[in-house]
Amino acid sequence: MAVAETVARSLPRSDALDQYPSFDLTPVIGRQFTTAQLSDWLKASNSDELLRELAIVISERNIVFFKKQTLTIEEQKLLARKLGELSGGPEDSGLHIHPSTVDNSELGDLVSVISTLTPEAKARRFGHGSQFASREWHSDITFEPVPSDFAILKIHTLPEVGGDTVWGSAYEACDRLSPEFAKHLEGLTVLHDASVFRRPDAPYVCANDNAIRKGPRGHPLNVGTELRAVHPVIRTNPVTGWKGLFVNRAFTKRIIELSYDESAVIREYLFRLTTENHDLQVRYRWDKDDIAIWANSSTVHNVTRDYVGERYGNRVVSLGEKPSYDPKSISRRQALGLPAFAG
Ligand SMILES: [Fe+2]
Repeated sequence: MAVAETVARSLPRSDALDQYPSFDLTPVIGRQFTTAQLSDWLKASNSDELLRELAIVISERNIVFFKKQTLTIEEQKLLARKLGELSGGPEDSGLHIHPSTVDNSELGDLVSVISTLTPEAKARRFGHGSQFASREWHSDITFEPVPSDFAILKIHTLPEVGGDTVWGSAYEACDRLSPEFAKHLEGLTVLHDASVFRRPDAPYVCANDNAIRKGPRGHPLNVGTELRAVHPVIRTNPVTGWKGLFVNRAFTKRIIELSYDESAVIREYLFRLTTENHDLQVRYRWDKDDIAIWANSSTVHNVTRDYVGERYGNRVVSLGEKPSYDPKSISRRQALGLPAFAG
């Protein structure tokens, strides 16, 4: 089958990563490198070539894992900057400062200390009492006018068992839509809202003084305390040129062009495309010092709060471009010459 043309940034491709053992975790999403050290790639003489290819692979596979990494915090920040730069990201997009980051935070403004709360603690803070773990599916910081392209998470403290993370492919979720319905959605926009961070009992430890960072938070457009943005429902990934469903249960509140009730029903259906299709998800069991790098532009994820004990990690999030939909863009299945989904 002929592979269709895409509207991706025209980035040079390379076979530089071929010498490093890796395997795909599922047909749709996820790849794992078994022995590579990211800190070596940063220092290599062909570093730019390696990291540009890595950015492309992350954008295609949604999420890439590296085992037992020696990468330092400074290297983690450098890597995040380079992935954006080398994959053609805008010059004025830097690393994100989360609005709930406290002054003098432990590792600086550009690193979020991930301290995943247990289900009991989360319920105490959030008070929602939901019995569905699927309520927490999200893509990072989509409430920003200029949201994230890549996120790098290193987990260094783990419970004995549990605390897995699950990622889902927004490309494949989009490929599950019937062509006529997809066409309708391609013209729609949706409100993303994180006013939850402004609550005095915000569900993150670092937000307990309710002092929202007014910005700029990594980009001149990411300012103020509103924490709201409007983005297209279907977004074109600028690296791959593939369409993805750019909605997530945590932050996506209202499809602007529809009535309240239409929005509520369709939004729920769109969420279910990810949460009820485990064949577009990958679930990862962490080892200490593993690193995951994902493309927030085309991926949703969710933590599993099933454990007892501590779970800590460091996350750095880079910013991409203002999301847009290119009517000439095609789906992942079209781009790879795969048959349409037959449901
Ligand atoms: Fe996240």
